[in-house]
Amino acid sequence: MKVMVTGGTGYIGRILVPELAKKGYNVLALDRDFLTYDDVKKEYEDMGVKILKDDIRYFDPIEMRGIDSVVDLAALSNDPSGDLDPIKTWDINYIGRVRVARLAKKLNAKRYIVASSCSIYGFREDIANETSEPNPLTAYAEANKAVEKDNLAIAGDGFAPMALRFATAFGFSKRLRLDIAINAMVYHAVKTGKLRLMRDGEQFRPFIHVKDMAAAIIAGLESESEVVSGQIFNAGSNELNVKLKDVAEKVKTSVKGTEIEWYGDPDRRSYRVDFQKINNSLKFKPKYNIDYGIDEMKREFKSPEFQFKDEMITLSVYKKLIEAKFVLSKHGYLNPPLGL
Ligand SMILES: NC(=O)c1ccc[n+]([C@@H]2O[C@H](COP(=O)([O-])OP(=O)(O)OC[C@H]3O[C@@H](n4cnc5c(N)ncnc54)[C@H](O)[C@@H]3O)[C@@H](O)[C@H]2O)c1
Repeated sequence: MKVMVTGGTGYIGRILVPELAKKGYNVLALDRDFLTYDDVKKEYEDMGVKILKDDIRYFDPIEMRGIDSVVDLAALSNDPSGDLDPIKTWDINYIGRVRVARLAKKLNAKRYIVASSCSIYGFREDIANETSEPNPLTAYAEANKAVEKDNLAIAGDGFAPMALRFATAFGFSKRLRLDIAINAMVYHAVKTGKLRLMRDGEQFRPFIHVKDMAAAIIAGLESESEVVSGQIFNAGSNELNVKLKDVAEKVKTSVKGTEIEWYGDPDRRSYRVDFQKINNSLKFKPKYNIDYGIDEMKREFKSPEFQFKDEMITLSVYKKLIEAKFVLSKHGYLNPPLGL
């Protein structure tokens, strides 16, 4: 089974791709990332993974020949990055991912999974499920809503597209993200003894460990097409709808001496999500809880090998890309491995 993973050297990709290779999938990882590409190339090639440094908007469709399934992770992957340049966000997160899904169908792939986000529900009082009306509040969430609609609409003729609406990730990956809540809390607690938290911490958020994200994607790849085709699944766990102050307390207990620094006015923007559907239909239940993630990251951050890099903050990556230049790819396509 040949699987293409776009965004395959990103935070989730660095967990998913090795897991797929371990399970015997023949993997092609496409990513335009020039920051970690050279490090990853050897590691992936040693696992038998082919790596393609290119852009979802411009790669040569010939690269997709023989692909059975596509996992579409490439995107500007958070709200602040999306807000930097909403037109580029639309270009990549909507037009780019529509291109990938259409090419996948045209080139006879059977399965397509797009990584969407529970942030599509916006802030709300009730517990959102897949039938709740989305309330996208940012360019990132708008693009997710549109790409879900258009990529699921091309289901049929043996092509089974599906969307996973992920909770917010936490946990360690070799391509670490420190702009996501739990990872940032643990990092600051370990490095500075302080953890900044917006008042009053009563806000709920749904979370999922990055290894469970990979497991949810594999469950999607391995389920019957009648179960998943044209379907949206929230990916997370009802037990991990957690108040931010409770997460902060866990970090404080784990990293001795941490002080919580409160800031801002009370933020009542909350959301909780129901994850029954993925549990019932794909038999998927996350394995890792928040304590596991805190312990794992605490160990990594305390290790002398750990070094902070700018690229761990997604927003910094895209700010740099916006300032960089466009160049032509080897295919003659306008390909910006340096620019956005
Ligand atoms: N991490 C989370 O909390 C979370 C939650 C919900 C949804 N998601 C979604 O999951 C997907 C992966 O997220 P992640 O956390 O691994 O983010 P990430 O930013 O670490 O990875 C995204 C990867 O996509 C690549 N990419 C961006 N634009 C590209 C383009 N035009 N062509 C080719 N590659 C491109 C980047 O280089 C990066 O390696 C994203 O779509 C994200 O929105 C993530």
